Amino acid sequence: MFAGCSSEISHPRGLARGPCQTVAPAPQKRMDLHRRYPAIADLKARARRRIPWFAFEYLDSATGTEATQARNRRKLDEVLLMPSILHGEFSADLSATLLGRHHPLPFGVSPVGMSGLFWPDAERLLARAATEAGLPYGLSTVASRTPEDVAPHLDGNGWFQMYPPRDTGIRDDMLTRARDCGFTTLVLTADVPVASRRERQSRSGLTSPPRLTPRLMAQVARCPAWALGTARQGMPRMRLIDDYAGAITGLGSTEHAGYMLRTSPDMGYLHALRAAWDGPLVVKGVLDARDVPALESAGVDAIWISNHAGRQFDAAPASIEALPAIRAATRLPVIFDSGIEGGLDMVRAIALGADFVMLGRAWHYALGALGAAGPAHLIDMLRRDLDANMGQLGARRLSDLPGRLVAAPPALSL
Ligand code: LAC
Repeated sequence: MFAGCSSEISHPRGLARGPCQTVAPAPQKRMDLHRRYPAIADLKARARRRIPWFAFEYLDSATGTEATQARNRRKLDEVLLMPSILHGEFSADLSATLLGRHHPLPFGVSPVGMSGLFWPDAERLLARAATEAGLPYGLSTVASRTPEDVAPHLDGNGWFQMYPPRDTGIRDDMLTRARDCGFTTLVLTADVPVASRRERQSRSGLTSPPRLTPRLMAQVARCPAWALGTARQGMPRMRLIDDYAGAITGLGSTEHAGYMLRTSPDMGYLHALRAAWDGPLVVKGVLDARDVPALESAGVDAIWISNHAGRQFDAAPASIEALPAIRAATRLPVIFDSGIEGGLDMVRAIALGADFVMLGRAWHYALGALGAAGPAHLIDMLRRDLDANMGQLGARRLSDLPGRLVAAPPALSL
């Protein structure tokens, strides 16, 4: 149904120098960036001004009253660790091995829907940055680029996130395309059985695909870098979905085209994916430790704890609250997301048993703030933050962190 991965791609002009390369700033410029943007919050503040409001609202918003998003932050802050003294000078080992691959840092790029809406060509810029840094990159089923578009920028670090198509022929074709493009890990997102209300997103006026009304055009006019880049790349569409559903138009952003194709998966669907995919299989969106035995018996290779950063259900536990029970229930690798705002939050999650951490919004704040230079700056920022906190804790390696834990949110009553 589809040609194999293109070896040549038309390099986006002007967004990144050369073949869609991220821009690693020179040392002096790097220092300037750290002075001006020392934290993710700084990137977010600048991104808010450079990404059109309708797109920023999609990226930044959660669902309902955003209580779960706030809870993610509040409960992460309840995780306390004891600083440790008299360890002398050392350079902490921040590396992590996950699903058979060694990564110099314990975090990666989470799949994000319509990534290219938040910044032009985001998928390829992030794929490139992740590959250069030795980190995993997740491509969403509802991204604005296809597996073939992104594959030339990956090197075995590609994870394909599946919103499960109802049609098994479409499902099998998506798996074939991802496999043929070198994606190694399949991620089944299980916490989006139905669309969530996304009230802030709805109010923004975004449609799927984005329709530039006069209201949205006025927002675009205030974001020239985004406008120029988008003019060059073309208005982002869910290109993988379009390949199967045809050019769907006129949907509101909360019932975007991805919902036209997908079903709410059950255990039978998971077993079918296990039978169809030889590489690592991850289930994303797990909060209930009672689900772990069934996932293990289905042959899942890793469990991804997530409450979708508060974007799906607004009375959920914080991801960090769910982590201890799931950690106690399995020996499988545990991946963590939702609420991570810096290296200290990663330290907290790892101290509570996570093996790896994924970020979604932060990568797009970085692109919105700094364009192609953003991802490399974010990686360097998080590396420095991890280093500083490991030093305070006297932790030479990530496995030392559980021993520094002194307080955590109370256990959930399951
Ligand atoms: C979202 C879906 C696409 O959170 O994962 O918007």
